[in-house]
Amino acid sequence: MVHLSSAWLLGGPLGLFLLVPVLMAPTPSSLCTPLKTLNDSLSHRRRYMKHNFPINYSIQVHYEEIFKLSNISRMRVNVEGLDELMLQRLWFQVNQGILKKLIRILPERHPSRSYTAELETRFRDAEGVFVQAHPDEVFQREPPDPVQDIWDRLTEEPEKVSSWRYATPKSLMDNLCHTMHCLFSHCFTTEAQHDYCGISHWRKGRNNMKPKAAKKPRR
Ligand SMILES: *[C@@H]1O[C@H](CO)[C@@H](O)[C@H](O)[C@H]1NC(C)=O
Ligand SMILES: *[C@@H]1O[C@H](CO)[C@@H](O)[C@H](O)[C@H]1NC(C)=O
Ligand SMILES: *[C@@H]1O[C@H](CO)[C@@H](O)[C@H](O)[C@H]1NC(C)=O
Repeated sequence: MVHLSSAWLLGGPLGLFLLVPVLMAPTPSSLCTPLKTLNDSLSHRRRYMKHNFPINYSIQVHYEEIFKLSNISRMRVNVEGLDELMLQRLWFQVNQGILKKLIRILPERHPSRSYTAELETRFRDAEGVFVQAHPDEVFQREPPDPVQDIWDRLTEEPEKVSSWRYATPKSLMDNLCHTMHCLFSHCFTTEAQHDYCGISHWRKGRNNMKPKAAKKPRR
């Protein structure tokens, strides 16, 4: 509030000038550097989050920690007053918890331990820039109720959680990666202008990596 009233006291053009960044709040380009670095690390996730674990190894997570593209598109349609910045805050909140959980289950000398620690460091770097790049007011804003509910459930005491989900480390990191591209798409767009929020974009990518299955001739 202090910020706002002093802006008004300054009055006129200067006050307006000070308020513009708050109102527009685009993703600052300074955030793209740490996010791209994180993206580079994530490119090794198959090896460190899948191959180094037993087949189908899963960890216990909150329902809300399964945060996929479909959640984002559903929330954009259903949650009134939800803006991109709020979704970005939610993205940081959810994934910070997941990375912490992954580190907690990995013994010191597990071959994926240092990789996961590196991911977390890079994630925190991005979060630091995100927080610094926006005025404090942004972080004091009350989230819409459905987002507040998610936050509350994420921080619930483990004893109070009535049911858990299980997810593989790789699937959690896939979610992190895909939703990052969707929510911070301007850092990742190329001249091809992909729709990173569309599930089909990622499906296509996956199929390209697989050898084409030979089609059975019909008849
Ligand atoms: C993000 O990482 C992928 C590999 O996982 C790479 O193909 C892509 O070019 C990267 N994007 C940016 C903007 O660095
Ligand atoms: C792993 O999970 C898949 C799909 O749920 C299942 O088909 C497969 O049999 C499982 N593999 C093992 C070794 O449990
Ligand atoms: C995302 O959707 C799934 C169901 O598809 C739900 O279980 C989960 O709680 C949702 N996550 C968030 C953060 O809303």
